[in-house]
Amino acid sequence: MNFFIDTANLEQIKEAAQLGVLDGVTTNPSLMAKEGISEPKAVLQHYVDICNLVDGPVSAEVISTNFEGMIKEGEELAALHKNIVVKVPMIAEGIKAIKYFSDKGIKTNCTLIFSAGQALLAAKAGATMVSPFIGRIDDINWDGVQLIEQIVHIYQNYGYATEVLAASIRNPLHILKCAEIGADIATCPLSSIMGLFNHPLTDIGLAKFLADHKNSKG
Ligand code: G3P
Repeated sequence: MNFFIDTANLEQIKEAAQLGVLDGVTTNPSLMAKEGISEPKAVLQHYVDICNLVDGPVSAEVISTNFEGMIKEGEELAALHKNIVVKVPMIAEGIKAIKYFSDKGIKTNCTLIFSAGQALLAAKAGATMVSPFIGRIDDINWDGVQLIEQIVHIYQNYGYATEVLAASIRNPLHILKCAEIGADIATCPLSSIMGLFNHPLTDIGLAKFLADHKNSKG
């Protein structure tokens, strides 16, 4: 399973990259806004800065909601760096844009996926990856992990190359559940990745090893 970090914060990206288990980055307009980045040139430079920290796919989202605007923005983003993946919303104009980018060899991430039908459309259009938002589905008392399972199953039925990128992850258990059902990628906040380390028996065991070592010195 590939681990992406879901943030535009350079310090957090650096911290995750230093662990040696980071495969890519996803951003969205809300995450960019959180870092105070909205001026067009600054946005583009920030994506380049992220690409310089992680040698893997970096999702950069278009703001336009019409085909022409998405194509213009997406081509500009894709030209920034070989690792840029153009993130496009799950709307009819977005699906047209994904088909266009796919024909041109530009990688895409179809975002705001909340149903298997939407994921099927995105795969048919040639999306490189789809982002089902599991946390936001759980928030409304539906089952986000079940959606991931359904999409993985459908893609396997037809051999679609589109990767399932589980997004809107809120905790380490989400990551684990997605791994069990075969999601290709989990994009996570740093706290969820770090949460995977936690087990009280590891802490107790390490404390005992160190105490025994100290005592054996006499
Ligand atoms: O990047 C898309 C997704 O991961 C958003 O997560 O926590 O805002 O639902 P969240």
